[in-house]
Amino acid sequence: MLSRPSIVQRAWALALGVIAGSTLVLAGPCDLYASGDTPCIAAHSTTRALYSAYSGSLYQVKRGSDSATTAIVPLTAGGVANAAAQDTFCANTTCLITIIYDQSGNGNHLTQAPPGGFDGPESNGYDNLASAIGAPVTLNGKKAYGVFVSPGTGYRNNEASNTATGDEAEGMYAVLDGTHYNGACCFDYGNAETSSTDTGNGHMEAIYYGDSTSWGYGSGDGPWIMADLENGLFSGYSATENSADPSISYRFVSTIVKGEPDQWAIRGGNAASGSLSTYYSGVRPSASGYNPMSKEGAIILGIGGDNSNGAQGTFYEGVMTSGYPTDAVENSVQANIVAAKYAVTSLVGGTALTVGSYVSLRATTSGYTTRYIAHTDTTINTQVVTSSSSTTLKEEASWKVVTGLGNSGCYSFESVDTPGSYIRHYNFALLLAADDSTKQFYEDATFCPLASLNSAGTNSIRSWSYPTRYFRHYEDVLYVASNGGVDTFDSTTSFNDDVSWVVTTAWAS
Ligand SMILES: *[C@@H]1O[C@H](CO)[C@@H](O)[C@H](O)[C@H]1NC(C)=O
Repeated sequence: MLSRPSIVQRAWALALGVIAGSTLVLAGPCDLYASGDTPCIAAHSTTRALYSAYSGSLYQVKRGSDSATTAIVPLTAGGVANAAAQDTFCANTTCLITIIYDQSGNGNHLTQAPPGGFDGPESNGYDNLASAIGAPVTLNGKKAYGVFVSPGTGYRNNEASNTATGDEAEGMYAVLDGTHYNGACCFDYGNAETSSTDTGNGHMEAIYYGDSTSWGYGSGDGPWIMADLENGLFSGYSATENSADPSISYRFVSTIVKGEPDQWAIRGGNAASGSLSTYYSGVRPSASGYNPMSKEGAIILGIGGDNSNGAQGTFYEGVMTSGYPTDAVENSVQANIVAAKYAVTSLVGGTALTVGSYVSLRATTSGYTTRYIAHTDTTINTQVVTSSSSTTLKEEASWKVVTGLGNSGCYSFESVDTPGSYIRHYNFALLLAADDSTKQFYEDATFCPLASLNSAGTNSIRSWSYPTRYFRHYEDVLYVASNGGVDTFDSTTSFNDDVSWVVTTAWAS
């Protein structure tokens, strides 16, 4: 008698590849979940197809120059995203990720999150959209872009189909940047309220990543993989400490949360090598409302269930399943993620800056081309500097290039006349501020030079922590400005020229 192959046998057969004609077709994560009878009901990725046969849209970008949109598709069925198509479409302007398509066929696309219990920063209360260039990586050597979520950024679908509701079983995984996080609420991916409001305990079941200690936490200082179950980030049985939930230091991290009646689990591992570990697997929390669960079936990315949008993180790919996946199937998905070979790539472009060198930065906007980025006390501004300017002004308009305090792939700019003080952003204005040794300072003082948006400059310089925002002069004062937005300095008029600079030899060093 022929027996039906076991789920594990089928998962491994798929993981090892199926000969279709003469072509070896490697299974994608969702092929593996399907083999375990826990199919993906949502599959999101800006970096690659998550089914071996998928060749449809991965995500949509919108460019600032004319608000035109285009869909980015894989290079081949089952393959890596065509990042070059994005680069061409977005040349000499800015681009935002407007839609992250669902590859599962359920139409569970993620779009700009609407206002909820908390409003977003857009004038209509929506959250911001992510920059399309904030999270460049390579997969097997091919460039792709992740979704870099700054505070205020979020995606959502409140009308998702076939997601788990009530106490129904589900699984989910996400591949994230393990080094991009904060302690604010809540960088989540998963199941949430359909009303964008807090409707009570157990109304969510989502992956959380960060170092919040407001509810649960794990060993060390974080960040941790936890579950946002609403009104609590759970590291295990309760929203307190679970010493078996370790601090994560992987650049690429695989994160898993799954739940079924009276059982749930947290698993994780290095997305670039090795296997998964289980950080919690056991019964539901005893606190009221979490057993049974009251899942509502909306899908969130980068925000909490009530649209709390203070958190940051980076998402590369993730899925949600119908049914509670076995550890074995998840292990085969982890092997697939490792085989995708996520790796870091350059964050900078344009004229190369050299650590230890001194530079001045000249404006390129017509009528302002004699002005350089300088400081007057703590205000960063532009001032006219010539060879006959005072030594004081020349020093105020000169900057030492140092390794990025918050990310070594970018740079920080140290004052020549006030060593130990750096250009940082604060409320989106640029300030000269002393290093206060906080993670917030380091991140806010880190900037990534790119090729200039106009033809007159050598570089445009984006904020590391808010990739939609660039060094911009507006009424002779410096901001990190987006190409359109709620502040006057976000004006689209003259944006390309106002954010384009000529990097020159410093006036003083
Ligand atoms: C577009 O940007 C590139 C790279 O900075 C620059 O060389 C080119 O002159 C720009 N083109 C226009 C039309 O601004």
